[in-house]
Amino acid sequence: AVADLAGMVRGHLRLAVTTTAKYFAPHLLGGFSRRYPGVEIRLEVSNRENVLERLAANEDELAIMGRVPKGMNVTGTAFTENPLVVVAPPEHPLVGEGEITPERLAEEPFVVREAGSGTRLAMEQYFAERGLSLKGSMELGSNETIKQAVMAGLGLSVLSWHTLSLERTTGRLVVLDVAGFPLKRHWYAVHLKEKKLSVVARTFLDFLTEEGGDLVQQVASGEVVPEATYEAGR
Ligand code: PGA
Repeated sequence: AVADLAGMVRGHLRLAVTTTAKYFAPHLLGGFSRRYPGVEIRLEVSNRENVLERLAANEDELAIMGRVPKGMNVTGTAFTENPLVVVAPPEHPLVGEGEITPERLAEEPFVVREAGSGTRLAMEQYFAERGLSLKGSMELGSNETIKQAVMAGLGLSVLSWHTLSLERTTGRLVVLDVAGFPLKRHWYAVHLKEKKLSVVARTFLDFLTEEGGDLVQQVASGEVVPEATYEAGR
C-alpha cells in the first residue's frame, strides 16, 4: 500500500545545491527516485550566491546549503551535520600532531575557496574570532581544485568532511587534529517562506529530514548505498 501511495506522487522537482553539496546530492536523489519513480528532478549545482538568486526568482523550489541566509524571507530545515576539517597532504609536518593551536595553524600557507562560499566564510570566522589572520592564501574556485592544490603542497585548507571520502580512504589527504575543529555546521533545505510547497517538494523535504542524514553520512564514510547495487540482468 505504501508503494501504491509512492507511485501517486508525480511531477517535477526543481532543486538547487551549493557546490559542496554535489558530493552527496546525487545519492539523495537516487534514494528518492527509487521510492518515488514518478518524480522528475532537475538539479542545479552552483555557488551560494547563485543558488540564493535562483531561489529568490522562484527558479528552484528548494535549495540545499550550509547556512540559512539572513535578511531573506526563507525557511531552513537542518537535516544533517556538515563538519568542516583542516586537510593536509600526508607528508606534511603537522600530520600526527595532537591539538594543533590556531596560532600554529595560521603560520601555514592556505588555499581558500572563492568569496561567497559558505566554507570560506566559516573558515574566516574561525580565524577572526581568535584575532588571527592568514599570512598567505591562494584563492581557488572549487573544492576539487583545492584538494589537488593541497596534494601539490601549495598549502592547507578547510573543507567539508563530505567532500573528502575518496581522498581520505586512499590516503591522498589527511585530516589534522586542530583545536576547535571540526567546525560544526549543518546542511539545510531552504525555501521561500511565502511560497506554498508543491506536494512533490514537500515529499522531498520529508524524505530529507527522515532519511537524508543517514544517506549523507553513508556517502561520507565511503559506504556503498546498498539499494544502489545493480540487479543482474536489469
Ligand atoms: P559552499 O557550500 O562552500 O560550496 O558555499 C557550503 C555552504 O553552502 O555553506
